[in-house]
Amino acid sequence: MWNFDDIQQKALQEIDACRDLDEAEALRVKYLGRKGLLPEIFASLSQASPEEKPLIGKGANQLRARITEALEGIKKRVQEETFDPTQRIDVTLPGVAPVLGHKHILTQIIDDICQIFVGLGFVVQEGPEMETEFHNFSALNIPVDHPSRDAFDTFYLESKDPGNPGRHLLLRSHTSPGQICIMEKYAPPLAVVIPGKVYRPDAVDASHSFMFYQIEGLLVDEHVKFSDLKGLLTVFCKRFFGEEIIMRFRPHFFPFTEPSAEVDISCYICKGKGCSVCGRKGWLEILGCGMVNPKVFSAVNYPKGKYTGLAFGLGVERMAMLKYGIHDIRIFFENDNRFLNQF
Ligand code: PHE
Repeated sequence: MWNFDDIQQKALQEIDACRDLDEAEALRVKYLGRKGLLPEIFASLSQASPEEKPLIGKGANQLRARITEALEGIKKRVQEETFDPTQRIDVTLPGVAPVLGHKHILTQIIDDICQIFVGLGFVVQEGPEMETEFHNFSALNIPVDHPSRDAFDTFYLESKDPGNPGRHLLLRSHTSPGQICIMEKYAPPLAVVIPGKVYRPDAVDASHSFMFYQIEGLLVDEHVKFSDLKGLLTVFCKRFFGEEIIMRFRPHFFPFTEPSAEVDISCYICKGKGCSVCGRKGWLEILGCGMVNPKVFSAVNYPKGKYTGLAFGLGVERMAMLKYGIHDIRIFFENDNRFLNQF
C-alpha cells in the first residue's frame, strides 16, 4: 500500500524549491510523466486487493490533482520572477496612430472632373471594360479596314456568349463605346460623362501605358452647336486648370465626330513661351472632341436629322500630369507612397 501523505508532502516540498521552468518540468516528468510515479501507482491497482483498490484510486487521483496544481502555481511564480521589465508595456506612452488611407490621385482627379460636369447638368455613367467589336469600332464609324484601328487593335477575347458565337470581345481601347451604350439605352436629350479604364497596345514609357483612364463626354439634343462644345470645354478647362489658362481648338480627325478638334492649353511650365515639357511649342494637347457624326446616330437608330450632339474624350493621367507637373505616367501605377501621399 502507498503512503500517499508522505509522497504528497515530499512532492510539494520539491516543487516549492523549484527555481526555474526546467526544474519544474523535470518534476512533472518525475511524478506525472509516462514513466513517472503516478502511472506506476495506477498500474499497481491490478495487483491490489478489492479493499485496497478504491483507496488507491482515490489517493492517486487526489495526489495527481495536488501535484498538477502545485506545478501550475510554481510555473506562474517562476515566470513572474524572471519577467524582463523592459518587455513590460508602458501604458503612459503615446499610442501609435493608425495610418489613414485616402483616394488615389487619379480617383481624385476623376471625381474633380466629373463634379465639374455634374455642376453643368451632366450625369455620371460607366460602361463595361470588355466591349464588343461593334461598340468599340463599327458603331463609331471605324470600319474593319480603317487605319485608325491599328493603334487600338489588341487584347481580344473570344466570346463565350452562345447567342454571339465566334464574335470577338475586346478590352475597350477608349471610352467612346460608352457613348453607344448610353444611346442604345436612352433617347435624347442626354448629357453624360463616362469615366473608366481603357487599354492600348502601347509599349510602356514615360508618356504611354497599356492601361490608363479616360473620361468621355456626350451631349445630345436638338440644336446642339459647335459653339456649345467650345463654350462647355472652355468653362471646364478654366474650372479645372484656373481662369488664367489659355486654350485653342485645333482641327483634327476622328471617325465618330465631324467636324473634330483637339484642344490644347498653354504650357503650365513656360506659360506659352516654349520649353522642353511642351516640346518648344508652348501648347499641350489635352483632349479630343467634335460634333457627333450622323453615322453614329444611325448606328444606334436615332431618327435621321433630328438630333445633333457634341462629344469629347480626355486622358485622366494627362490632366493630372499637367495640373501637378508630373513627368512620368508610370509613377501613378507603382504604388509608391512617397508619391501618392503628396495628394
Ligand atoms: N476616343 C478618342 C480617343 O481615345 C477621343 C475622343 C472622344 C475624340 C470623343 C472625340 C470625341 O482618342
